[in-house]
Amino acid sequence: MSTKSKKTYYITTPIYYSSGSFHLGHCYTTVICDAIARFKRMDGYDVFYLTGTDEHGQKVQQKAEAAGVTPKQYVDRLYDQIVELWKVLGISYDKFIRTTDGYHEATVQKVYEKLLASGDIYKSQYEGWYCTPCESFWTESQLVDGKCPDCGREVKLQKEESYFFRLSKYQDRLIKFYEENPEFISPKSRMNEMINNFIKPGLKDLCISRTTFDWGIKLPFDQKHVAYVWIDALTNYITALGYLQDDHKLYDKFWPADLHMVGKEIVRFHTIIWPALLMALDLPLPKKVYGHGWLLFGNDKMSKSKGNVVDPIVLAGRYGADVIRYFLLREIPFGSDGVYTNEALLVRTNADLVNDLGNLVSRTTAMVTQYFGGTIPQPNAYTELDKELISLCEGTLSKVRADIDNLSAPDALVDIFKIIQRANKYIDETMPWALNKAGDKERLATVMYVLCECIRYSATLLTPFIPSTSEVIFGKLGLPAPKNFTKLAKFGQIGSGVTVNKGENLFNRIDVDKELKELDKIAEQQAKPVQKVEEKPAEEQISIEDFAKVKLCTAKVLSCEKVAKSDKLLVFKLQVGDEIRQVVSGIAQYYTPEYMIGKTVVLVKNLKPAKIRGVDSNGMILCAADGKSVVFVTPEKEMDSGKEVR
Ligand code: ME8
Repeated sequence: MSTKSKKTYYITTPIYYSSGSFHLGHCYTTVICDAIARFKRMDGYDVFYLTGTDEHGQKVQQKAEAAGVTPKQYVDRLYDQIVELWKVLGISYDKFIRTTDGYHEATVQKVYEKLLASGDIYKSQYEGWYCTPCESFWTESQLVDGKCPDCGREVKLQKEESYFFRLSKYQDRLIKFYEENPEFISPKSRMNEMINNFIKPGLKDLCISRTTFDWGIKLPFDQKHVAYVWIDALTNYITALGYLQDDHKLYDKFWPADLHMVGKEIVRFHTIIWPALLMALDLPLPKKVYGHGWLLFGNDKMSKSKGNVVDPIVLAGRYGADVIRYFLLREIPFGSDGVYTNEALLVRTNADLVNDLGNLVSRTTAMVTQYFGGTIPQPNAYTELDKELISLCEGTLSKVRADIDNLSAPDALVDIFKIIQRANKYIDETMPWALNKAGDKERLATVMYVLCECIRYSATLLTPFIPSTSEVIFGKLGLPAPKNFTKLAKFGQIGSGVTVNKGENLFNRIDVDKELKELDKIAEQQAKPVQKVEEKPAEEQISIEDFAKVKLCTAKVLSCEKVAKSDKLLVFKLQVGDEIRQVVSGIAQYYTPEYMIGKTVVLVKNLKPAKIRGVDSNGMILCAADGKSVVFVTPEKEMDSGKEVR
């Protein structure tokens, strides 16, 4: 396929709030999108996968204030964390957008100007309820028991001058669009939810600016106002591509998006506000918004505010990123909520990755090593049994493609594992050890070849889902890891002379009971409130200019005597370049006058002169003290007197 004729595929995750740490629930959206993006790339599409961070808003400003840092310092820290997390999980995004990026901010301002010019926004007074954690406006009737209907937390009565977007104007066009594009909101149940809960009761104009805080994008025509964080955030999907910017090649190529993957709680923003905004800007609408379910912990959504989060870095560190990816993609029925338990993770890993996949690879490579010295033999005539496996392998790509088009990663994995499970059964049916014993090398060669091909098919198809493991499998098979699916069209692609390398197990069996105890211990540790370290008052800092005011120099002790009637004081005559200085110092308990004569010391030269016990002192000798002893500071090598110390 030439680059020109390649079909494009633009897929996005939501941009993540930079107002708290990231947990396993957050990884769900990104891992699913990553598997889809990788699959599409291997299937010949020119893919653009966008993710990023949502860095403005009241919530961020409040968190930064509480942490005693600026909002920018706060979001920078979270940016580092999320980039590290995506690296650990092998997320293959093509671009990472931050809403504090200059190009994004400037474009959002242009969008507001356009909306003002087209008469889609007007100034008025907002009075209603606001949920700061969700950054959502609610009407009285939408509240549930007086709380936010999305997260159940307190809402605040908000009254402020605001700009409004004429959302109500787009109600009929939205309904018409849904009718003409029944696939736009998926799964279907979410479409009904949007129509019945939000559109039918009547869309109200949307407040799209705030004045009670300033961590946001300033409206170009009214600097008192910052952009409502959801308008700022949603536009990322086009600003990232260069919309309204000099270089808009990506926008021309990839917009409209093929898929906005989002959690179910934010479908409303993506299927009502976002399309209406695009209509107002006269832009094409995205092809699909998919609202996936939540990863639950117990009965609740896994979320920081509920205190029930699982740390993906800990899990990936213990079991490897692919174990986490596999679990998220396989275990949670797509579109619905799924419960996370440590036990489910460990049991699933042992069953699928250790038993099925790991065993197939280790048994096959061990047998090729034992029976054929490690070189994959070429096959002889295929039996009916072999042909059954061949047709299973050749038919799986189209099934997995359909599963991915339905956005069902669990189904895709079930289909791929059918090859793996069938191949394991084939080993038991063909009994290669018996063929070897009977000296039937011809049949044994065919069996080994069929098994290696089954592994090649499975590992190729698994690449988008568990990329590192697939690469390791190809290393064991002695084949280069494939970049696309073209070699899946026909069975029998392994040429002669390929040498396997059994090496270590792909995955080690997990002792579930032991491991559960370990994970409980870790969770307990993490739940413990961090011991508050006695806070020392911050040390006052000085500028380099302040420091430069202190003139330090080397000085040579010419004479030294005790000060009369004092145990502590010594009086020095110091040579300082051409000058001779008298200085009193409190080091008599530590040094005798005789010892000091001839020594080089460091003098604070520009200290105001003082009288100590009636003796003139013009400067100070630098010393180090540890509470028990005092030692004078001296240059590490011989130095003339009067030399600057800095
Ligand atoms: O909503 N299970 O950001 P976010 C599954 N900034 N998915 C979960 C989850 C869980 N327990 N917890 C979070 C935002 N997510 C906005 C988006 S887009 C223009 C602005 C998912 O950090 C959540 O559903 O709260 C969403 O898809 C993603 O993590 C980011 O959520």
